[in-house]
Amino acid sequence: MDHFSYRNGELFCEDVAVERIADSLGTPLYVYSKATLLAHYRQLADAFAPVKPLICYSVKTNGNINVLRVLAGAGAGFDVVSGGELFRAQAAGGDPDKCVYAGVGKTDAEIRQAVAAGIGLFNVESEAELSNVDAIARQMGKGIRGALRINPDVDPHTHAHITTGKKETKFGIDLDRAGGVFRAFAKVQAADGAPGMHLTGVHIHIGSQITEVEPYVEAVRKVLALIDELRRDGLTMDWLDLGGGFGINYENRHALPASAFAAALLPMLLASKLQIAIEPGRYIAGNAGLLMANVLYLKAGGTKKFVIVDAGMNDLIRPMLYDAFHFIWPTRPGAKFIPPADRTDVSGMAGLETVDVVGPICESGDFFAHARAIPPVQRGQRLAIFSAGAYSFAMSSQYNARPRPAEVLVDGATFRVIRKRETYDDLIALEK
Ligand SMILES: Cc1ncc(COP(=O)(O)O)c(C=O)c1O
Repeated sequence: MDHFSYRNGELFCEDVAVERIADSLGTPLYVYSKATLLAHYRQLADAFAPVKPLICYSVKTNGNINVLRVLAGAGAGFDVVSGGELFRAQAAGGDPDKCVYAGVGKTDAEIRQAVAAGIGLFNVESEAELSNVDAIARQMGKGIRGALRINPDVDPHTHAHITTGKKETKFGIDLDRAGGVFRAFAKVQAADGAPGMHLTGVHIHIGSQITEVEPYVEAVRKVLALIDELRRDGLTMDWLDLGGGFGINYENRHALPASAFAAALLPMLLASKLQIAIEPGRYIAGNAGLLMANVLYLKAGGTKKFVIVDAGMNDLIRPMLYDAFHFIWPTRPGAKFIPPADRTDVSGMAGLETVDVVGPICESGDFFAHARAIPPVQRGQRLAIFSAGAYSFAMSSQYNARPRPAEVLVDGATFRVIRKRETYDDLIALEK
């Protein structure tokens, strides 16, 4: 699952005791495991190997250029959704030809930037964007490959805020209208190699943290039917980008391995003879990171016990945003309180205390856990907030004028700072 484990009563990331890292760098602190990033990337690559997919790691998940470098080194391309993410991908040595670019609101400047860079696949989300990208590429004298993002109206059974493939969401073009858009554009589109858009692909991304194969199967079946129809009409269709969304274990063992998704999809994908792309984010990075926090105070509230830590919702907003569950445990829990290796069920453990783990920010939503059973802790003890490698630092802010935490990448028995802790000067650096 990942390379975080308790040895001799304390938490290790690969072969480094996380306490040792926090002793030298302080808290709050993000700690990532290189071996875990690579293991999850390889699981996906192996599972989908029969269709030789282009694996585009989703930069929004965790865009630290050192994380991107690790994945680029393993062969990954990148899924970007802004000019800034393309900049990050390129800064990390990513090959733009292996990048896909989605997003409902690309600006003209961003489109020009991506066309100039030689982006691999433009995932276009509306008719208006299609004609705009085509016009800009023609002006620039460049031919570009494009896919239409289709909204297949499939319910991925995940949180409403990360559901993206249902009719009422803003993403993509309705399946019913998509055929008409392809046919109309085929009449005006540039010949292969000529300047302008070559619209020969379909993109879907139905949501995130998906733990069932059926929504993918349904979505793929729907868009393959459309592709077949368009091919029968003589249109060239050669790309299918399946998006990301593969879920991970946060709270339970419900997530599926990549091989389960691949087993369900491969027969259809192989038969389609399309070039396949996938855009995993959370599956690769989610369980490859944790956030370390220091216990500041214990407090008896009116009806609850609070453990107040030095990390806040500005560092990790997922609990507030999605009611997300993150397993929380002391980094040195003592021999009596070593959690099970998969960190799921601690209900049988005697002596735990039920507490709310909260941060210092002036918002009631500033919490990491409500009514959670953890070992008794004291001021000065450190806690690990697990599964914080995805959408965690990436969504951090300086709210309450709190400098962002440092990020560290562990590789075997060594670690290095991959982003320095921000300082007070950083808070006002752009305000002079
Ligand atoms: C277009 C697109 N692709 C890929 C992803 C990555 O999703 P996940 O991290 O669930 O794999 C996202 C996430 O929002 C996305 O919007």
